[in-house]
Amino acid sequence: MKPKYKRVIIKLSGEALAGSAGHGIDTPTVQAICSQIKEVFDLGVEIAIVVGGGNFWRGRSGEGMDKSTADYMGMLATCINALGLQDVLEEMEVPVRVQTAIEMKQIAEPYIRRKAVRHLEKRRVVIFACGTGNPFFTTDTTAALRAAEIDAEIILLAKSIDAVYDSDPLTNSEAIRYSELSYIDVLNQGLKVMDSTATSLCMDNHIPILVFGLNEPKNILRAIMGEKIGTIIQE
Ligand code: GTP
Repeated sequence: MKPKYKRVIIKLSGEALAGSAGHGIDTPTVQAICSQIKEVFDLGVEIAIVVGGGNFWRGRSGEGMDKSTADYMGMLATCINALGLQDVLEEMEVPVRVQTAIEMKQIAEPYIRRKAVRHLEKRRVVIFACGTGNPFFTTDTTAALRAAEIDAEIILLAKSIDAVYDSDPLTNSEAIRYSELSYIDVLNQGLKVMDSTATSLCMDNHIPILVFGLNEPKNILRAIMGEKIGTIIQE
């Protein structure tokens, strides 16, 4: 069994770490995700992770808060999640380095592209925290940017839903499920899989995105092995 990919970015939403509580970090949920990550790490795949922060904080610009301030708070939330993932992965004997886009040297290394690549080559999982370090950019955009920077072959976009649909399958039983889409389809149809900045960045840099459900226990492995799960977005 040979993995299809050598270097990947796994994008985890903050909510994925929260389990049924819907907020905060649920240790058994994080352990289940990390054991999936360990499984593919042990196959020799180089793994970088971008994690969101929505389990602690969602932008509140609509509620009168300054958008930049709300986004900076979200960046701090991603850092909490990165440290939580690091702790659980290291417990499983997976070496991890956290790099933050905003310097907080006492807590983690700053993001340095060449160092991140070196860590990957030395068989360490790298977790990118604090998004891009800029307000107005999502963690999906961070995944696209870091994938381009470190030459990742694909973004594995782990979701609570199993694929991309034309409408919400929970409220519309007729929703159409896509197994393949082009970047332009996503942009033109306004599909809510990634924001347009992230999608455009992937399109410009020819980085495929595989959207799949995290609730199936073997899905990260299946994705890495090249199985046809979820929705693939590419040219
Ligand atoms: P090599 O240079 O390949 O040996 O990498 P390394 O990460 O093992 O060595 P390094 O001495 O850079 O780091 C040792 C430990 O310190 C690792 O856990 C790093 O994540 C951590 N570390 C490195 N730089 C910083 C930093 O600026 N701040 C914090 N908080 N930790 C750091």
